[in-house]
Amino acid sequence: MDYFIVEGGTKLEGTVSVYASKNAVLPMIAASLLASKGTTVLRNVPNNADVRTMLAVIQHLGAVADFDEKSHKITIDASSVNSYEAPYELVKKMRASFLVMGPLLARFGIAKVSQPGGCAIGARPVDQHIRGFAQLGVKISEKHGYTTAKAKKLAGAILYFDRPSHTGTENILMSAVLASGKTVIINAAQDPEVVDLCNILNKMGAKIEGAGTSRITIRGVSSLSAVDYRPIGDRLEAGTFLFAAAATGGKVRVKGCPPEHISAVLFKLEDMGAKIAEGKNWVEISAPSRLKSTDIITDPYPGFPTDLQALAMSALCRADGTSVIWERIFENRFLHVMELQRLGANITILGDRATIIGVEALGGANVMASDIRAGASLVIAAMSASGKSKISRVYHIDRGYEKIEEKLVTLGAKIKRESE
Ligand code: EPU
Repeated sequence: MDYFIVEGGTKLEGTVSVYASKNAVLPMIAASLLASKGTTVLRNVPNNADVRTMLAVIQHLGAVADFDEKSHKITIDASSVNSYEAPYELVKKMRASFLVMGPLLARFGIAKVSQPGGCAIGARPVDQHIRGFAQLGVKISEKHGYTTAKAKKLAGAILYFDRPSHTGTENILMSAVLASGKTVIINAAQDPEVVDLCNILNKMGAKIEGAGTSRITIRGVSSLSAVDYRPIGDRLEAGTFLFAAAATGGKVRVKGCPPEHISAVLFKLEDMGAKIAEGKNWVEISAPSRLKSTDIITDPYPGFPTDLQALAMSALCRADGTSVIWERIFENRFLHVMELQRLGANITILGDRATIIGVEALGGANVMASDIRAGASLVIAAMSASGKSKISRVYHIDRGYEKIEEKLVTLGAKIKRESE
């Protein structure tokens, strides 16, 4: 099992580029199942564990997929899909595997997918996905840990989400593109990855309007074709480098992510005393040696992303003053707090709020990653601490980033990957 040894105390400086967004690529791999002929090509794809798991899922279904790791290009031929079942062994590795349900239903009228279950950051039910499918005329049964969905022909309907669900919106979109008639999703997720999925689906021949708003309209078409596509840059990877620079008092330019996808984050970084410059597809941060405290509320896009909450917290551990972070999306997304305390942070949690009293310095310690972003937050805190830290269970970080340490080292970080 891999771990990181981080020698803290270096300011990050330089320029770094982001890969395509993991959370845009995963639904696009699922969407490739909608093309019954031709080859789907996705570019600039990060070679991380979640992408490899999603490829394993569609290969299990019978698709022919290849990942050229050097050129970061995926090619998928879904003409030979001959199974409709996503098994427990794959879904348990990654909840997003549930995203194959929408396209399988749309193309074959049948899908059997292992129920994803809870995960470290919360219970994360899929009830909104299921209710949406049912409204499109799908018969659902749940047995032995599997959800089986069947429909002769999906029929458009008006759907409403209790709260905007990112993958829920994507799953319904992919099921509705080949349905008869018109589907309207009310209270849809507005995230850039959802917009990008609509863009690739429209390029494939779908008729979707309203992407990026809370009301998306889909007019069903009879077939879709495979396309060549470059997904948007990863705003969460970009945010990771920005908070890493903020926490270490550095100056870093991040290329490949439109600033408007991280407006809430840039706003908060400015509150924290950082200077931000931006261009069409880049952002540059210059951070003071000590940040100012601020308060953060996580909210569905365009609010502050829950995925960057842990990373912001790491940067705030050494800020001047007291900060409060209110986590409103997931009920258990404070697992990093105990680990940050091991590095010397002064944080208390009351329900869904964490209060961070800034300390003058953090010190190196042994800590453990518990999910993708919690793991990245520990890397940031360890880089801003004095002395040496060991971060174990790096496989959590590797689910969402392609060798995060290599890009950080180009910015001056002292991180080594070692094996137990
Ligand atoms: N929810 C329900 N019922 C549902 C669906 C969601 O109650 O049927 C609840 C969830 O439990 C949560 C809230 O609604 O409290 C929002 O969840 P959402 O469905 O939006 O999350 P998701 O689609 O499962 C995606 C990302 C996550 C990211 C969240 C929030 C992907 C593959 N995953 O998850 O990314 O944290 O949206 O933005 O897109 C990550 O990349 O590290 C990651 C966890």
